[in-house]
Amino acid sequence: MNTDLTNGYALLKDVLDLVREDELSKCEVIIFAPFVHLKVFQNSLNGSGIALGAQNCHQEKSGAYTGEISAEMLASIPVEYILIGHSERRQFCGETNEMLAQKINRAFEENIKAVYCFGETLEERESNHHFAIVEAQLREGLSNLTKEQMAMVVVAYEPVWAIGTGKTASAEQAQEIHAKARTVLADMFGEVTAAATRILYGGSVKPSNATELFNMQDIDGGLIGGAALDATAFSEIVKA
Ligand code: PGA
Repeated sequence: MNTDLTNGYALLKDVLDLVREDELSKCEVIIFAPFVHLKVFQNSLNGSGIALGAQNCHQEKSGAYTGEISAEMLASIPVEYILIGHSERRQFCGETNEMLAQKINRAFEENIKAVYCFGETLEERESNHHFAIVEAQLREGLSNLTKEQMAMVVVAYEPVWAIGTGKTASAEQAQEIHAKARTVLADMFGEVTAAATRILYGGSVKPSNATELFNMQDIDGGLIGGAALDATAFSEIVKA
């Protein structure tokens, strides 16, 4: 919930100026914009090589849910991705794994790809429950999917204690969870699908730590929050 439309658009323009085409041939870049920004962003991103995503959708198809946004509405923009279960949605809006599984299905009904977020709180880590928590989040949130559908899902590990706090999980702490996630995915969908699934890390990624994180074996990219509000920092992370 940052930037009004004017400032958001100015930020987008700066990102478009700074992220170069040769970088886009090496990695995929997606901008997850607030709902209010989506249509304007879609016009600007068209043909840029950068994809557009929304930050949430409702779990029901349509109906009397005043103030909510459906996957169908997002398809009419159109967006290519929807972020599902960001830790702040789980934390502040009470979104459960079951609800998130429904949201993924809604996205698929509209041919929109999902980025499914998971990750433990500080309390869960300190009480040594972090492996069990992330396993349950993956198993329950992705439970309805076929192998073919899983190929349209990106997952993102977000340790809640490292989001917007300036604290980053060490590359080793992140790798350990990413490796665990890949093992769980292999058990659910088979080795081939698990190996092909992109597992992103989100939690205070900055230009100064991006390379180290992205060099870890099971870290396939980043979900960037605060640093994405600075076009220069964001473009440096894309380079990393
Ligand atoms: P942050 O946010 O980079 O500001 O920690 C990450 C996220 O929202 O996933």
